[in-house]
Amino acid sequence: MQARRSAQWYSGDVRNSYIHRAWMRRGLPADAFDGRPHIAIANTASDLTPCNAHLNEVARSVADGIHRAGGIPLNLPVVSLGETQVRPTAMLWRNMAAMAIEEMLRANPIDAVVLLGGCDKTIPALLMGAASVDLPAVVVPGGPMLTGTFRGVPLGCGTDVWKLSEEVRAGTLSAAEFQRSEGSMIRSKGHCNTMGTASTMGLLAEVLGMTLPGIAGTPAPDSRLLEAAHATGELAVELADTGRRPSTVLSRGSFLNAIVALAALGGSTNAVVHLLAIAGRLGVPLAQDDFDRTGAGVPLLVDLQPAGRFLMDDLYRAGGLHAVLAEVRDLLDPAALTVTGRPLVEHLGTPLVYDREVIRPREAPLQPHAGIAVLRGNLAPGGAVIKPAAASPHLLRHRGPAVVFDSIEDVHARLDDPDLDVTADSVLILRGCGPKGYPGMPEVSNMPLPAKLLAQGVRDMVRICDGRMSGTAYGTVVLHVTPEAAAGGPLGKVRTGDMIILDVENRRLDVDIPDIELAIRDPAPEMVKAFAAPARGWERLYVDTVGQADTGADCDFLLGSSGDQVSRESH
Ligand code: FES
Repeated sequence: MQARRSAQWYSGDVRNSYIHRAWMRRGLPADAFDGRPHIAIANTASDLTPCNAHLNEVARSVADGIHRAGGIPLNLPVVSLGETQVRPTAMLWRNMAAMAIEEMLRANPIDAVVLLGGCDKTIPALLMGAASVDLPAVVVPGGPMLTGTFRGVPLGCGTDVWKLSEEVRAGTLSAAEFQRSEGSMIRSKGHCNTMGTASTMGLLAEVLGMTLPGIAGTPAPDSRLLEAAHATGELAVELADTGRRPSTVLSRGSFLNAIVALAALGGSTNAVVHLLAIAGRLGVPLAQDDFDRTGAGVPLLVDLQPAGRFLMDDLYRAGGLHAVLAEVRDLLDPAALTVTGRPLVEHLGTPLVYDREVIRPREAPLQPHAGIAVLRGNLAPGGAVIKPAAASPHLLRHRGPAVVFDSIEDVHARLDDPDLDVTADSVLILRGCGPKGYPGMPEVSNMPLPAKLLAQGVRDMVRICDGRMSGTAYGTVVLHVTPEAAAGGPLGKVRTGDMIILDVENRRLDVDIPDIELAIRDPAPEMVKAFAAPARGWERLYVDTVGQADTGADCDFLLGSSGDQVSRESH
């Protein structure tokens, strides 16, 4: 076994190793510095990230496991992001959180790290940071909450907020009943229970090979999560001994496996930007088109909201992630490794499926072709994405006049104006919501429908935006339009009344005006304004350096890895 990384701080009898040891002695065992591995528990628990608030309890089980295996557990609170709380959008801070995590892992005397995350951006940020420092690492996904019910019917976090609020606007649900549902929405600790971004990224962390096999999707209140957290602590000690790092585990095959799983699970479109960003930290070649090439032919097997009916608790009860992966085993890269040192497919075994309504067999899928479709055309030369499984089939081929909004505030101000010239055939366009324009690429793309159309019974329309959509949302929504309007993309030149053509089967997104006319059109003045950089702080750095959605919306100076070495002493 190689000398431990932590020994660079602690070994020897010189003044500096004295200093590093002496201040750490408080309560550690006498042999703590005699070669035992020091394992950080990078913990995103925070009262302001309610989905992760239980992670301190999980951390205690991880620490017990580390102790049991002979390691020294060290709690390391890291930047946390509460999706429902943080303004203007948690995505603005994902790269900052990843940078802070990376730097603190590198700066401290640790040999491996256990990453505790849950809420949407936390697992991506942890994986991005861990990939760039490339220390041995393993994830414990915090797990989904239990299913709440309202009026005897299960409530899907997020998805039912959108649905119920549209019912209020349509006049079919009273405001008082809507308020009453609020107390039933969040039943327990854990993250959102739909197949939203948190569920998707927790499951994909396992498909990537970065968790103890079998842990992902375990509900947060389930005692089996703590048992698995304990086992993960023991595994982290083994990782420190073997030196198995993210760069050892994560290959192109791991990411393609994640794309297959994303399709079969009906996972969140946000996984596209997160997986691209993680791959970018490792230098693994992965492109937006890989999502279409690899995922488009994969059947949708899981009947979970927002694409279907059930919730994460049901998926776990029905057999969980391994039961889904076993159905598409032949599509998975057999060589893609996990943190155990063995390939993912070797861990699948022959899982039983206990509810075929929730997990469908390959020969009777929910939809034969799922995944993410990547569209191109004169409206999105760099690409745009749509999740056909969450869209209305009759709108996947559509031609309609644009109704353009220059900000989400513009949507709120004008959408319900009875004089707004809009019909069910109109295409709602929202721009200025990309990484640079908002800034931070918020989840506003699933803009609400005009109240007068809701009252007529319309429940979906084609919507196009350069922002993102909550993984819990649904509808015929074209997202991540690249380049974004505020960075000079053609979306910024569209005018209300232009005819928009969406053709998902042929992967096209166009505005029906001659290219020459589009080229000489000026962008809307609001888009030029949106690109004015903020004066200072992270927002300034972010706007100056963030890339577009098609490459993961990471900051250019954070791409790649700097390794785990620090050459200079602190004293
Ligand atoms: Fe945290 Fe949905 S708000 S996972």
